[in-house]
Amino acid sequence: MKITAILLAAGQGTRMKSALPKVLHPVAGKPMIAHALQAIQKSTTEKPVVVIGHGADEVKKYLGDSAQTVLQEPQLGTGHAVMQAESLLKGKTDLVVVCYADMPLLRGETLQKLVETQKNNTGPISMLAVISNDPRGFGRIIRNEKNTIQAIVEEYVASEEQKKIKELNVGGYCFDANWLWDALKRIPKNEKKGEYYLTDAIELASKENLPVLATIMDDEQETIGVNTRVHLAEVETAMRKRINEEHMLNGVTFIDPASTYIEADVKIGKDTILMPNTYLYGKTEMGEGNIIGPNTIIRDTKIGNGCKVLVSVLEGAVLENDVDMGPFARLRKGAHLGNHVHMGNFGEVKDSRLADGVKMGHFSYIGNAQIGSNTNIGAGTITCNYDGEKKHATEIGEDVFIGSDTMLVAPLKIGAGSRTGAGAVVTKKTSQMIRWLLVCLLVQLRN
Ligand code: UD1
Ligand code: MG
Repeated sequence: MKITAILLAAGQGTRMKSALPKVLHPVAGKPMIAHALQAIQKSTTEKPVVVIGHGADEVKKYLGDSAQTVLQEPQLGTGHAVMQAESLLKGKTDLVVVCYADMPLLRGETLQKLVETQKNNTGPISMLAVISNDPRGFGRIIRNEKNTIQAIVEEYVASEEQKKIKELNVGGYCFDANWLWDALKRIPKNEKKGEYYLTDAIELASKENLPVLATIMDDEQETIGVNTRVHLAEVETAMRKRINEEHMLNGVTFIDPASTYIEADVKIGKDTILMPNTYLYGKTEMGEGNIIGPNTIIRDTKIGNGCKVLVSVLEGAVLENDVDMGPFARLRKGAHLGNHVHMGNFGEVKDSRLADGVKMGHFSYIGNAQIGSNTNIGAGTITCNYDGEKKHATEIGEDVFIGSDTMLVAPLKIGAGSRTGAGAVVTKKTSQMIRWLLVCLLVQLRN
């Protein structure tokens, strides 16, 4: 059975007061439309269709080939929006799932239940509903004395009696495709608003005596749609709680969940402990038994097992196992720390590889460098990698001892086992230096 989703994303989102299209506003680090697309995946079999309108170019650019798009111009309501997808989908799908791109908390499992309901429905529509004391301006579900769904009444036209109805239309539907395309043509234009309401399809089915079923949701939070930045913050908080709890249930310890911010795609192994005020962003991934934070920001970084990262900032880096870093250490793009590397306070590493067991205790900058295993980088060591025009590389072998406050003027190679004295400015290969020192010695001896 072919099941295709239509995601509605053409609305203006005026109340966001933003230059950015509403559905591109991030929640837990990715645009809310990405959350909607992820949820849809679980219950559908085909590439989704996104109905775009306001900010169409930007939304289309973001979607790339993750979805087909269809332009709704002008925007004449939710029914009109779905009509736009007919040309793409007619005859190509058995079921159509319709939902909104501005409901990032809606879970894939909920849409799966909705699709299951429709698969068992002899009628053409199943819809998501919630029973709530807080109507949030949602349409009310009207049932007759036999408890059969008859219509949806929008809040602004509901009678006082209807307004008391607690069963609300969430805005997620699963339709029999063949019935839908025909029914959309029969939806009357709403004279007051000049729009075609998708919700009127329910009344059409009911009048034809075709059953409309509701999947009642148990988590009201999933129904929150974002219309203002107040809603956006509400959704962000709920999403953060959801993400944190998922990690906790997978064996990650949070000392203070309320001050721990983890974006949606971050992966964390069990028995890792997250201290307060830790931020894990982007494509960050880590293994087991790490201790991260407090006061640490990590973005797009891969961390192995058993690492300790204290009060530090890491971006685009790799840490192998048992690395110990901080406080106040900074890793920039391309920093790669091998097993058992120790990096102390006020160090910065960029585009460099520190092999296993390297120690870099204090106040150092290592950029564009390769450092061999078990080498010791003394306090205040700097790779002078930039000559004002170009970046140059530094290569340091294994078991090297770099004395405190050494300036390593790149391009430079320091052989394995070498030593530099405190305060040295090294500008040539150490092997060259040794040759030069020997020449000096011979000259001295001759005199
Ligand atoms: C709709 C439902 C209402 C339900 C509520 C749940 C209708 C008529 N009413 O109302 O019963 O309780 O959702 O949130 O459907 N959109 C388009 N093109 C359009 C109009 C809307 O793409 O021409 C998109 C919007 O971007 C938005 C979604 O459809 O994502 C919902 O539209 P909105 O205008 O917010 O509908 P509601 O008034 O909330
Ligand atoms: Mg709305």
